[in-house]
Amino acid sequence: MKHFAGRVAVITGGAGGLGREFATVAAGLGMKLVLADVQQDALDDARRALEEQGAEVLAMACDVRKGEQVQALADAAMARFGAVHLVFNNAGVGSGGLIWENSEADWEWVLGVNLWGVIHGVRIFTRLMLDCAARDPQFEGHIVNTASMAGLLNAPAMGVYNVSKHAVVSLSETLYHDLQLVGAPVGASVLCPYFVPTGISQSHRNRPDDVRMDAAPTASQMAAQAMTVKAVESGKVTAAQVAQMTFDAVRDGQFYIYSHPGALGNVAERMAAIVEQRNPGDPYAATPHVREFLRSKL
Ligand SMILES: NC(=O)c1ccc[n+]([C@@H]2O[C@H](COP(=O)([O-])OP(=O)(O)OC[C@H]3O[C@@H](n4cnc5c(N)ncnc54)[C@H](O)[C@@H]3O)[C@@H](O)[C@H]2O)c1
Repeated sequence: MKHFAGRVAVITGGAGGLGREFATVAAGLGMKLVLADVQQDALDDARRALEEQGAEVLAMACDVRKGEQVQALADAAMARFGAVHLVFNNAGVGSGGLIWENSEADWEWVLGVNLWGVIHGVRIFTRLMLDCAARDPQFEGHIVNTASMAGLLNAPAMGVYNVSKHAVVSLSETLYHDLQLVGAPVGASVLCPYFVPTGISQSHRNRPDDVRMDAAPTASQMAAQAMTVKAVESGKVTAAQVAQMTFDAVRDGQFYIYSHPGALGNVAERMAAIVEQRNPGDPYAATPHVREFLRSKL
C-alpha cells in the first residue's frame, strides 16, 4: 500500500499503547480513522486528541471477542466513510503463570481477545475490503495483525499468551498466502513486538466480568506479572517507534515486522532445534537472571 491520504484505517485496541500510536501516524498521513476499544475513557481521550490533530475519527466501543460487535464496527465504518483500506487487528491482553494453573476463564479471555479478535477482524474486514476493491480500480488495502515475539518463541510462565500469539502468526501467514493466491490488491503483515512500554502489563484493567478471575492469583501468576511489569517498563523501543516502523513496512509490502530484530537469534535457535530434532533450548540462556527470578518465586 503506497497511498494513505484520504484513505480509511480501522484500529482495534486503538485507545491505548500501540493502537493509539498507529492512529497518530495514520492521522499525520491524512487518513480517516475508525478506533475500536473496550476502554471508553481512553477511547474518548484518543478521539479528542486525534480530532485536534485534524483527523476525522469514528470511535466506537467494541469488544473484539464478539463477532457481532466487530460486524457492527465494520458496518459503522462503511456508513461513515464508505470504504476501509487499512486494518490493524491489534487489541490484545496478557496473562501469565504456569500453564496448568491457568483457569478456563484465563484461556477464554486471552484467546477471546488475542485470537478470536483477529479471526473476526480477518473474517469480516478482508471480505469487506475485497468488495471495496471490486468497486474501485485504484483500491489498495493492507491488514496488519499484531502478534508478538511470543508468537515465535515459547518462554515459560506465559503459555496462554504464547498459544494465542502463535495462532496469530499462523493465521497471518495463511492470510498472506491466500491473498497472494487470488491476486488480491490487499497486503498482509504480522507485527511481532518484543517488550515495549504500553499498558499491556495492566491488561486486567479491561478484563470483562464474564471471564473474571475466579480465584486469587497463584505464586507463578504473581511472579509472571512482576516479570512482565519490569520487562515492559524497561523496554527501550517506544510504541511510537514501533508504529512508524509498521507503517514503513506496510508501504514496503513487508510481511514480518520486528521491533527488536536482535531477539531473532532465539527464534533461529528454536527453529534449528525443531529441524535438528533437538529438545527445546533454554529460552533464558541469554538472560539467566529472569529464569532465576521466576524460580525464586515458585
Ligand atoms: N507492549 C508490548 O510489550 C507488546 C509485546 C508484544 C505484543 N504486544 C501486543 O500489542 C498489542 C497492543 O497492546 P499494547 O502493548 O498496546 O497494550 P495496551 O494495553 O496499551 O493496549 C491494548 C488495547 O487493547 C484494548 N482492549 C483490550 N481488550 C479489548 C477487547 N476485548 N476489545 C477491544 N479492545 C480491547 C485495551 O483497552 C487497550 O486500549 C496487543 O495485541 C499485545 O499483545 C505488545
